[in-house]
Amino acid sequence: MPQGDSPQTYVDDDRRAAATNRSFTRRGGRMPPRHHRALEVHGPAYLLSPPIEGTSVAAGFVLDLPAAFGRTAPLVVEIGSGSGDCVVAAAAEHPEWDFLAVEVWRPGIAQTLAKAAQAQVGNLRVLRVDAAGVVATALPAASVDQLWTFFPDPWPKAKHHKRRLVDPMFAVDVARVLRPGGLWRLATDWEDYAEQMRDVLREAPGFEPGAEYGDRFDGRVMTRFERKGIEAARAVRDIVVRRADATDQ
Ligand SMILES: C[S@@+](CC[C@H](N)C(=O)[O-])C[C@H]1O[C@@H](n2cnc3c(N)ncnc32)[C@H](O)[C@@H]1O
Repeated sequence: MPQGDSPQTYVDDDRRAAATNRSFTRRGGRMPPRHHRALEVHGPAYLLSPPIEGTSVAAGFVLDLPAAFGRTAPLVVEIGSGSGDCVVAAAAEHPEWDFLAVEVWRPGIAQTLAKAAQAQVGNLRVLRVDAAGVVATALPAASVDQLWTFFPDPWPKAKHHKRRLVDPMFAVDVARVLRPGGLWRLATDWEDYAEQMRDVLREAPGFEPGAEYGDRFDGRVMTRFERKGIEAARAVRDIVVRRADATDQ
């Protein structure tokens, strides 16, 4: 520690660094009345309310999944679920699975709740917190069958690449929460982010080797982010990697 700097300065600097490196900026300002109504009316059925510190789940908090869903079933977690198009469609199509949507953008959460209610899905829960902490600590180890990261914010400027969600540390956390044999599905329309994802997945401990671009996941409904990429003539890359069996490691 340089002379003259107090430990408090360091803590503050760490906090500032953590804040600027977050993978999101917008959390939703003013919302139209229909979004407020959706949160109020459908929040109790779908929104989980863990203890929160800032935008994250409180340190040490671990989700009780059987209590959250009222049953035990295979679990799909979508990180950055946006307006909920994909997760709600999947929940409606697979009532035998449970789905957890993690998103920080409040208008997106409101739209997700409205769509879930409209589709009358009972197997979806929504967490409005920073996904980083959810994957790092709040989800129990080996509790997730599939984790989806579709069109994460691309942070295209080189100076912002450190804010990208998919990095080596995140991969370690994803490996922690996936069951052996579980899948991490990713998609992006930003070529250099696709390359970054592939490189991260090739190096990440706990996954089967040889991550490569694959076919479009047919369980992924078209969202406006994919549509924007296609309209801009960007290639959409899908990657899926399998959590290695404990015996493979
Ligand atoms: C580009 S959008 C894609 C949304 C959706 N997956 C789709 O394809 O329509 C990325 C979303 O991830 C959310 N997000 C980014 N970082 C996040 C984080 N750390 N925790 C939760 N949500 C996050 C953003 O709020 C945003 O809604």
